[in-house]
Amino acid sequence: SGSLVIAVDGTSGSGKSSTSRGVAERLGLRYLDTGAMFRAMTWWLLREGIDVRDEAAVAAAAGRPTIESGTDPLAPTITVDGTDVSVAIRADEVNAAVSPVSAVPEVRARLLELQRKAIGEGGIVVEGRDIGSVVWPQAEVKVYLSADPDARAQRRTAEQGGTDVARTQQSLLERDRIDSGRATAPLTMAEGAVHVDSTHLTLAEVIDRIVALATRAR
Ligand code: C5P
Repeated sequence: SGSLVIAVDGTSGSGKSSTSRGVAERLGLRYLDTGAMFRAMTWWLLREGIDVRDEAAVAAAAGRPTIESGTDPLAPTITVDGTDVSVAIRADEVNAAVSPVSAVPEVRARLLELQRKAIGEGGIVVEGRDIGSVVWPQAEVKVYLSADPDARAQRRTAEQGGTDVARTQQSLLERDRIDSGRATAPLTMAEGAVHVDSTHLTLAEVIDRIVALATRAR
């Protein structure tokens, strides 16, 4: 059905992106990475020289950049004022600043509008922190994806070709702490969400589970 929306929320590094793209590919759906939108906003603020810890400054600037997301699961793209920032948004400086920026209500309100527009008539897998709880609570399928911090840090370090697992883990846990503790749209298991713990599952197994949930929901 064209209207199907699959919401995939969860902690940092739990495998949301690989899983969501895989599910979208299998089911012929579009894909939206809302984390990339918060990262793009953060990249832009850093480039403008705006102090990302200054909530008032961030709030005042949040309306300025034009952020656009592609929805092809095989080639996700994200642009800011026409510049492709798909690679730049994965930098360490963005990792360190994105959670404080994402806690600012004006930032969330701005991106919420773009997210709802992109979801449109549905037919999409959407990943983030607050998709099933705030952005699209009416999603036909809601998944809360988690994994043990060790597993998450190991996967993420390997993905980035790095070696410092402890440092990666610290960075993931710091983001989780801020994302779960903020007042506006904190990371939480949405009502009606199915909890999938991917610690001891392969990517293919996680994808299979979500595809099975979607098949039942259609
Ligand atoms: O998913 P990803 O790790 O790329 O998200 C980066 C950051 O963006 C998160 O740590 C969180 O601060 C923010 N985010 C959010 N709400 C979403 C998606 C991401 O606050 N729906």
